[in-house]
Amino acid sequence: MELLDSSDKSLKLAGQAIAAGKLVVIPTETVYGLGADAFNPDAVARVFEAKRRPSFDPLIVHIARLDQIDRLVSKFTSKARLLAENLWPGPLTLVLPKRSEVPGIVTSGLDTVAVRFPSQVLARKIIEYSGTVVAAPSANPFGYVSPTTAHHVARSLGDRVDFIVDGGACEVGLESSVLDMAGPAPRLLRPGGMPLERIQELIGEVLLPQAPEKVVTSPGQLPSHYAPHAKLYLMERKKLHSAFGMIKNPDTTAFILFNAEARDEMTGIESFGKVEILSDKGDMREAASRLFALLNELDTQGIESIYAERVPDLGLGRAINDRLSRASYKAKLRLD
Ligand code: TXA
Ligand code: MG
Repeated sequence: MELLDSSDKSLKLAGQAIAAGKLVVIPTETVYGLGADAFNPDAVARVFEAKRRPSFDPLIVHIARLDQIDRLVSKFTSKARLLAENLWPGPLTLVLPKRSEVPGIVTSGLDTVAVRFPSQVLARKIIEYSGTVVAAPSANPFGYVSPTTAHHVARSLGDRVDFIVDGGACEVGLESSVLDMAGPAPRLLRPGGMPLERIQELIGEVLLPQAPEKVVTSPGQLPSHYAPHAKLYLMERKKLHSAFGMIKNPDTTAFILFNAEARDEMTGIESFGKVEILSDKGDMREAASRLFALLNELDTQGIESIYAERVPDLGLGRAINDRLSRASYKAKLRLD
């Protein structure tokens, strides 16, 4: 693996490598993506291998200009277009009817394709230089927490990719919102970096994700996903506080609290090894951007249990709670 900086020369090299069928990790505004030429089935197959990802889990295809959607999509409905015109580039992925030319390995044989137009300029330049469109799942081993720095990727997938482009920390820090626009009514498949409220403002009613237990079409919806190695317990603030007495190993226990107020309310929290606050002032954006970085870091610090507080279910809070609940130990048990 070769680590590349964000100079234009490096971005060009990265783009050319994608065109040549190599695996290139690219920074986006959400999380780092493991990119390959979407029209090169062999390269895409290597993405699945590198991630140890089951082949029933389709990939998102990334574009750098709106007109590239014509290579991928057979029907761009007016509602989808409205979303694209207003919310792209940005952390929103649209699932649309696919053109037959899109290789089946990208979409796991579905007749739809997920398309995303990232706002991260480095990502867009790499895609431009590749001369193609780029299939890229999050650059983490399947089921693990998504990476928000080049360092996270190097640690977990470094020996399985050709290049990693270091674009610094990801601004949003949570994956894109995935919206199914191919069915009879718009449905949110995965809450993410684009708040549901902004989508609703433009197109009205949006169906919510189905209960995770029932879903097989979109593995980002598997009940256990995005999970750190430490056991994570998710609960309301009050419950969290009353759980203190049951915690046996304070030194290897970490807390993830939403804001400084939570810490101030929890008398006795000083006796635990690590207390992390997502955002002192309770700013959702800041909280979202820190979550995955924190989970990645705690796993390298010998932490065995993480107690996390549920955040308010508003804006990006919905995506934060979604990821925390899939990261939880309870979700892991449910999978067995
Ligand atoms: O922010 C993001 O979306 C990041 C960056 C790299 O762009 N990518 C990402 O990809 O999170 P991935 O592969 O980790 O998650 C893609 C999600 C999965 O839950 C997958 O099942 C769903 O999108 N998906 C992809 N194509 C689909 C399709 N045709 N129909 C339904 N769900 C689809
Ligand atoms: Mg992922």
